[in-house]
Amino acid sequence: MDKTLTARVSARGLGATERQDRWWVAPAAGALALAVFIVYATWAAFVGTDYEFGPYLSPFYSPYLRPAWFPLSASLIVLWVPLGFRLSCYYYRKVYYRSYFLSPPACDVSEPTRTYTGETAFPLKYLPIMHRWFLYLSILVLLWLWVDALRAFDFGGRFGIGLGTVVMLANVVLLSAFTFGCHALRNAVGGNLRCFSCARGGSLRYGAWRGVTHLTMSHQTWAWLSLYSVGLTDLYIRLCAQGLIHDARLIL
Ligand code: FES
Repeated sequence: MDKTLTARVSARGLGATERQDRWWVAPAAGALALAVFIVYATWAAFVGTDYEFGPYLSPFYSPYLRPAWFPLSASLIVLWVPLGFRLSCYYYRKVYYRSYFLSPPACDVSEPTRTYTGETAFPLKYLPIMHRWFLYLSILVLLWLWVDALRAFDFGGRFGIGLGTVVMLANVVLLSAFTFGCHALRNAVGGNLRCFSCARGGSLRYGAWRGVTHLTMSHQTWAWLSLYSVGLTDLYIRLCAQGLIHDARLIL
């Protein structure tokens, strides 16, 4: 953006703009959607009960690790991985910078401060680097969630499909679309190359890059769908465990 324009806009105070559209709708909706999820996820992670029902296990508690020395909820041992992955995600950074930090609230809308350094200073400048490491850890957690989803077909040694099986499967598919559409993954499989056909394993990398790119183009959609599918999967299993809803099943 033109530096003169930036200075002029920020000099007028928070929210000042010449825009005529309802620019505040997107940041307000983002703030609300994130807040609802954060409140629910925090409660579900700390409560430590009703996270499993039959072959179903809440994604907040997977992989289930509960060493004897750990006194708190089992979810806290692994939840930092998906949390770090989402917090450092390029798209979520845009959402919370705009919705919570208001820096800026939207394009061509004035910020609260002129001293904001963005991602050029500690600690935010390390987020892109950390994101790649969180990606690798999240892929491991995702593999485990696939194992959980496949286990949801096993009803005491008999093959079956319950509504919970479908819910868990849909959740892991959405999480895969979000994870494998990561910008850092796209860079890892196709970055730093001048020519795919000249590189070792070039055609394989080109195919992977095309697949990742396809998902990356809808990364925002996968980000929201997968965020809420995690919460709704936990809610479904929790309601079943509490006997508040009945899990419809077909067992062969
Ligand atoms: S950029 Fe969003 S998950 Fe990597």
